[in-house]
Amino acid sequence: MKKNIFADSKKINTLFKDESVFDIDYCPEEIHARERETSEIKHLLSPLITKKKAQDVLIYGPPGTGKTLVTKFILNHLISYSSNIKFLYINAISDKTKHSILHKIALLFDIVLPRRGLAVDEIFQRIKESLSKASFTPIIVIDEIDQISSDACSEILYDLSRVSENKNRFCLILITKNKNFFLNLDARTQSSLFLNNVPFSRYSPKQLKEILKERVEYGLIKDVISDDFIGYVAGFSAKRGGDARIAIDLLYKSAKLSEKQGSLKISKKNLLEAAKLIDSIKFSEKKSFLSEEQMVFLKNIEDGMLTSELYKKQIVSERSARRYLSLFEKQNILRIEEINTGKGRKRKIFLNFEKDLLSM
Ligand SMILES: Nc1ncnc2c1ncn2[C@@H]1O[C@H](COP(=O)(O)OP(=O)(O)OP(=O)(O)O)[C@@H](O)[C@H]1O
Ligand SMILES: [Mg+2]
Repeated sequence: MKKNIFADSKKINTLFKDESVFDIDYCPEEIHARERETSEIKHLLSPLITKKKAQDVLIYGPPGTGKTLVTKFILNHLISYSSNIKFLYINAISDKTKHSILHKIALLFDIVLPRRGLAVDEIFQRIKESLSKASFTPIIVIDEIDQISSDACSEILYDLSRVSENKNRFCLILITKNKNFFLNLDARTQSSLFLNNVPFSRYSPKQLKEILKERVEYGLIKDVISDDFIGYVAGFSAKRGGDARIAIDLLYKSAKLSEKQGSLKISKKNLLEAAKLIDSIKFSEKKSFLSEEQMVFLKNIEDGMLTSELYKKQIVSERSARRYLSLFEKQNILRIEEINTGKGRKRKIFLNFEKDLLSM
């Protein structure tokens, strides 16, 4: 072997002080811009500390608005403060059946389940017995609960609320992106639950900047990114749904691109390239759900075009065009900005993806 191909690997100049700061499960030191939500949830859960009944919580809001982070943050504080509380975090993306959820709950009570498996009713019976004898209050968090079919979800929640009628009860924290989640449950379950709504809203550019500054401080070496560019990242992600995940991802991807090119600073070019990449990934995820007509409609939109110019093209009726525009705006496929043209206000359309992606 003449020269090992990895011989120069150690020499790479890195922009990162600590790359784990950009991991999805990284827990920041401080949570910015979520004081109201944190204090509302804290208020709902605090009776548990004195072994009183707490109220169940329904957290809802758009993606990347801190729902999972804030919930885990509060619960970690709660269990380190009070030894008579335990919590179980379930993500319905991986556990979406009644059986797998009850199985996880059984483990919280250290119930040993036989290898041959047990029927759900039997597991439920054992949980019920353990709950009545439990020396701690169990909190069950079901994140992304909308991933469970509404029938199964109604059944699980009905059972958990019914068992809670006894002295010992479960405290439920349900998290969803779907504002109407509760209305999809069956009537019996709706009337057995009393959920306190805690809405999470999209982050503003200013809030995103605060969140980003902390990641920059702990994750990157000094002076890798200018304040203006942090502002750009915040603005970009504010326009893409006020999503902190997009903001952190853009910061990370542009740092990685700069690193790959051997530069110790994030340049505007790298920032724009990473932004394009993120948009393309997001758009590709949505593209498969578009109809033929919607694809043709999108192909006819030029970036920066006025809505009135698009209506004149008559690709679909004006009514449908308005409906599509508002749908695509909600899905962050495009955005509409009001401009003042001297002759009154007009609306301009901006695409959040590269048009080449439509023909791929
Ligand atoms: N206020 C905040 N301060 C610091 N980091 C934040 C804040 N809000 C969100 N983040 C970070 O942004 C990312 C997304 O947050 P989180 O996973 O909590 O969003 P979510 O609302 O649960 O989204 P989804 O609905 O897609 O599950 C995470 O990496 C999280 O650490
Ligand atoms: Mg989440």
